[in-house]
Amino acid sequence: MKILGIDIGGSGIKGAPVNIKTAELIEERHRIATPEVSTPDAVVEVIQELIQHFDWDGPIGCTFPAVIKQGIVKTAANIDNSWIGINGEELIHAETGCKTLLINDADAAGIAEMEFGAGKNNKGVVIMHTFGTGIGSAIFVNGQLIPNTEFGRLEIRCKEAEQRASGRNRTDEGLKWKAWTWRVNEFLDRMETLFWPDLFIIGGGVSRKHDQFLHLLKAKADIVPAQMLNQAGIIGAAVAAGKKFNS
Ligand code: BGC
Repeated sequence: MKILGIDIGGSGIKGAPVNIKTAELIEERHRIATPEVSTPDAVVEVIQELIQHFDWDGPIGCTFPAVIKQGIVKTAANIDNSWIGINGEELIHAETGCKTLLINDADAAGIAEMEFGAGKNNKGVVIMHTFGTGIGSAIFVNGQLIPNTEFGRLEIRCKEAEQRASGRNRTDEGLKWKAWTWRVNEFLDRMETLFWPDLFIIGGGVSRKHDQFLHLLKAKADIVPAQMLNQAGIIGAAVAAGKKFNS
């Protein structure tokens, strides 16, 4: 019933033990800065620190900003390239002694929103996007996740959508909300042409500021902000690990 959820992000690695039945964090979230060079050794060292902080020896659910197949990291857009090909689940288990599930970060955030947040009880086609360092995506049909979608890679105006409309683009290019949402709308429009979702859930770092931009987003589908804010990854990873380990 209790799993340590860990969310590996571009700037911070955050964790907390989660009651996976209620989605409550049992202790206050602890955050450690992501190492500048985010190699497997450096990241696992931070995970060790989190484990020590919570005095943890149970299972772990851990998000990762990449495609994950059977525990193996397949891509590395916003993390050190040396992760590619590494079985992150086996590595973390071997180094910490804790059974680990590794899951794509947007998939984890989507699971949290579908089970406890903005997508709860929605039986249709739901697409969750996270706008942070990159653009993450998760798609659900009747509550069922199709894992590892990488919709941020869609090409728009000769660039990947994630190179134009991520949260990082907004801050790095100093885009006003209106200019940034214009790019996001182009992306949502393309998603809608391809998938005809019933609901878009907008999450990631920007979702904290949704009052600044949500009214500027346009789609045929409903658009709602994520409800779990910066805890979605931690909770979703813990819930997914709970299913894997039958906790
Ligand atoms: C990665 C995705 C990830 C997203 C958000 C992208 O660069 O390819 O796997 O979900 O960033 O972190």
